[in-house]
Amino acid sequence: METLVAVVVVAFLLFTINHSHCFNHHRRSQLQRNSLCAELIQPSGYPCTEHTVETKDGYLLGLQRVSSSHGGGDKNAKPTGPPVLLQHGLFMAGDAWFLNSNEQSLGFILADHGFDVWVGNVRGTHWSHGHTTLSVRDKDFWDWSWQELALYDLAEMINFVYSTTNSKIFFVGHSQGTIMALAAFTQPEIVDMVEAAALLCPISYLGHISSQFVLRLVGMHLDQMLIAMGIHQLNFRSDFSVRIMDSICDDEHMDCSNLLTSITGKNCCFNRSRIDFYFEYEPHPTSSKNLKHLFQMIRKGKFAMYDYGLLGNLKQYGHIQPPTFDVTSISESLPLWMGYGGNDSLADVEDFKHTLDDLKSTPELLYLDSYGHLDFILSMKANEEVYSNIIKFFGSRGSRGMSTSF
Ligand SMILES: *[C@@H]1O[C@H](CO)[C@@H](O)[C@H](O)[C@H]1NC(C)=O
Ligand SMILES: *[C@@H]1O[C@H](CO)[C@@H](O)[C@H](O)[C@H]1NC(C)=O
Repeated sequence: METLVAVVVVAFLLFTINHSHCFNHHRRSQLQRNSLCAELIQPSGYPCTEHTVETKDGYLLGLQRVSSSHGGGDKNAKPTGPPVLLQHGLFMAGDAWFLNSNEQSLGFILADHGFDVWVGNVRGTHWSHGHTTLSVRDKDFWDWSWQELALYDLAEMINFVYSTTNSKIFFVGHSQGTIMALAAFTQPEIVDMVEAAALLCPISYLGHISSQFVLRLVGMHLDQMLIAMGIHQLNFRSDFSVRIMDSICDDEHMDCSNLLTSITGKNCCFNRSRIDFYFEYEPHPTSSKNLKHLFQMIRKGKFAMYDYGLLGNLKQYGHIQPPTFDVTSISESLPLWMGYGGNDSLADVEDFKHTLDDLKSTPELLYLDSYGHLDFILSMKANEEVYSNIIKFFGSRGSRGMSTSF
């Protein structure tokens, strides 16, 4: 039973408050039908179009393009400002940037400031569209980690937005989205397409993660366990998982609200009356291999490629050890902004300082003592406390003229 519980509670990496119905079954079936534009963005009054990008290894990713609600109501109005790509974190997808009100959500705020907003969705999430040959039921469909998300998914999305808009792009990433970015930015040809980047809860090292709950899962080798059990897809919206989740959340021995805090750190500022709404969208699936790669980072304290073991590494990389992503090689010419929180138990301050020491450039920093891991996307005050700083930073870095609304 411990194993089963362990499998399920990983889902709480995102949200869990004491709720008897963690997921809304009705909404779940709707999600499978609709697009992110139709589901969440257009209903708020924002023009939005859907795009599909194919990665080198055959995954079909959904991208949404969003522009200002003040554009006169033309559903297909073309945005005029500089492009910005938003890259979500683990167990999330592009909806993460639109979960609060128009005045509180970064996706809407950037659009209203005249940005040409592009919303990334990695492979395996609800808003990406499968694979050219593989089915989600195939084991091989889930044979990837954040390494592929960085070098294939993010690289392809950046390239697509860059060539579609014919402009260097701004980038905003959260959590795993920053792991992907820092890995991708070690490639000069990717940096060449990026104007500036803002990283929320930046992660390249996880050796000092302080989340007791995650450390327990690492200690019990949940990652190896899952793979040994033949579970390659982590999908907490399957009927089976939903039933177990519901029973766990009902279990008086398991305080779900404390559990959230023990995973992400104490989030000061998100709107508790919106939890049900958040759960209509989160969590999104990821692969067990990705979880294993993240756990390898925690165990070894390194920012390295996936470790296949001695022989596997020799075959894959020609070395016994997996190659590291060299943060020191990220071009000094790339302007970086970073926001981190004192109560974030996933992106630990000590690990963050390590990343900072490695970087050749000197990023602009924002430290918020009371912020936990989720506050950077869900805080009711994120606009004033975080996003206004990012917009100012982008405004000062842009090579193109910005609209007067800056
Ligand atoms: C919190 O969420 C509720 C429910 O969606 C909403 O009515 C309320 O305005 C939100 N409060 C703030 C301060 O954003
Ligand atoms: C965490 O947040 C609390 C208040 O919410 C604050 O008192 C504390 O200093 C914060 N920082 C750390 C590092 O715990």
